[in-house]
Amino acid sequence: MAEPPAPEAPTIIPLVGEARERAVPVIRDGFVGIYRWHAKRTLREVPTVRALEAGGEVVGIALLDRLAPEVGYVYYIAVLSSHRGIGLGARLLDDALRLFREGGVEVVYAAAQTDNRASIRLFEARGFRSVARKETNWKDGGLGAWGLRSRMRLVPGEQLLGLRLRPTQLASQNAAERQA
Ligand SMILES: CC(C)(COP(=O)(O)OP(=O)(O)OC[C@H]1O[C@@H](n2cnc3c(N)ncnc32)[C@H](O)[C@@H]1OP(=O)(O)O)[C@@H](O)C(=O)NCCC(=O)NCCS
Repeated sequence: MAEPPAPEAPTIIPLVGEARERAVPVIRDGFVGIYRWHAKRTLREVPTVRALEAGGEVVGIALLDRLAPEVGYVYYIAVLSSHRGIGLGARLLDDALRLFREGGVEVVYAAAQTDNRASIRLFEARGFRSVARKETNWKDGGLGAWGLRSRMRLVPGEQLLGLRLRPTQLASQNAAERQA
């Protein structure tokens, strides 16, 4: 008897325009209450939506934004519960970090509820560390900490995580001056 075909490996695709509605089942599966409402709204507003597609179905999503040209923000990452624990969340995060890096982003932030162990582990496994909220002025000049925080829409019970992808322009200038 012939072997059944191997299940199609998920691939990452951009979701644009009305195709974003394909991500709604992942949001319904992954979030409840205010987070579900907010994730659906963000899905329609955010500049970049990446999706993992398998067998014609969206099984995971990442909603990405830039708070400033040098500051990336991961609003939401979610994987269908039937597909969790096999590295798909990590693939979505790696893809997001690659896009941010290629786009010249210096620092990436994400927020997770302090009791969401899967989410915090996912980000920590990629080098994110917990950032005190007052530290969010990692960027040089221009956008102050308040401006960043208000765009992040953090709510009580959430932990802010950050990952520096490359030194800030100011740090690079200081290092160059020290060497000169
Ligand atoms: C968070 C989420 C996206 C993780 O997706 P996933 O595909 O299961 O994650 P992965 O299999 O890629 O695992 C990534 C890392 O998290 C760890 N992890 C995954 N699930 C975990 C759990 N329940 N408890 C602890 N760690 C967990 C993995 O061990 C792995 O770490 P490692 O590289 O050190 O082994 C998924 O649990 C989810 O969709 N949750 C609901 C939505 C949500 O809360 N999103 C985050 C807030 S925006």
